Amino acid sequence: MIAITIEPGSSDSPRLEDRAEPEPAPGELLVEVVAVGICGTDHEIIEGDFGYPPPGQDRLILGHEAVARVISAPEGSRFAVDDVVAPIVRRPDPVPCPNCAIGEWDMCQNGRFVEAGIRGLDGYATERLALPEAFVVPVVAGTGALGVLIEPASVVAKAWEHILHIGARAVWEPRTALVTGAGPIGLLAALFALDHCDQVHVLDRVADGTKPALVSELGATYHHDGSTSIDERFDVVIECTGDSKLMMEAPERTRPNGIVCLAGVADEGSSAAAGFARDMVLGNRTMFGTVNANRRHYVEAARVLAGADRSWLDRMIDRRVPIDRWQDAYRREPDAVKTVIEFLPPGSPSAAS
Ligand code: BGC
Repeated sequence: MIAITIEPGSSDSPRLEDRAEPEPAPGELLVEVVAVGICGTDHEIIEGDFGYPPPGQDRLILGHEAVARVISAPEGSRFAVDDVVAPIVRRPDPVPCPNCAIGEWDMCQNGRFVEAGIRGLDGYATERLALPEAFVVPVVAGTGALGVLIEPASVVAKAWEHILHIGARAVWEPRTALVTGAGPIGLLAALFALDHCDQVHVLDRVADGTKPALVSELGATYHHDGSTSIDERFDVVIECTGDSKLMMEAPERTRPNGIVCLAGVADEGSSAAAGFARDMVLGNRTMFGTVNANRRHYVEAARVLAGADRSWLDRMIDRRVPIDRWQDAYRREPDAVKTVIEFLPPGSPSAAS
């Protein structure tokens, strides 16, 4: 059986290899691969910038976006021969961490997860696969290679789930979204955005061709670099290019209470911006703006302070300036933690109460 393999860490190593036929373990499906999608991650792996082989091997079978047909299913399976399925990329860590233990493996805490075709587990660019049922999802039959879009769409579905979770911190009814990048993730992000927002804008570099056409067919508005500058502010910005400039501009393109979701990693070597993007995106990290507080937050603040160590709190206030030297209090002391102006001398009966 043939498989496309690479040697992680070295560039230009892809080759077609002969691999042993898979032998399904009890409870596993045997599937034949219908199609495998390629994305930026595959390119990074091929270029030697990313990817890890399975333990004890030098080479990794590529491919993490796939659609396959069931050839055999175990007794009592919820799948039957000829069913079409899409395999899941990530497998939970074996510990498992609290998130992996409850199926939230995309938020693995200890980094010991594996990802098919990417990290420590052979991928799907091969003829046949044995797959645990728990790691495949059904695909509507008759859609051919379209099933490969399930994997990138799953990344977008998660992005929107998290956007809505963050939005739920207060009343927030998103109406407008900007997607930067009209690659597969960007286009899928625009598609999903239309489920939540009535105005969706997409920005990309190219001026014509398939991307603008696909965007306008969706009912979204297309912008290309150098065309209309986007003055509008959006409730949601989904950054899918990994371009550091677009990434940095994203917050200023949002309205108050807006949410920026970074979904793209730039291939910019070791620049600070590239490092930032990788950390944010590959670590599921969240960065958000906050100012002021409501009553609930004041009540919580009082509860936490009441339970805190009094001397620790006292030491936080490391600069106490009596009122008669109040100007000093307003002079910057870079190393001070907290300056207070004391209106009553410490120890005076009223100050103690
Ligand atoms: C895949 C994700 C994966 C990520 C990093 C992406 O291309 O779609 O499933 O987690 O690469 O490995």
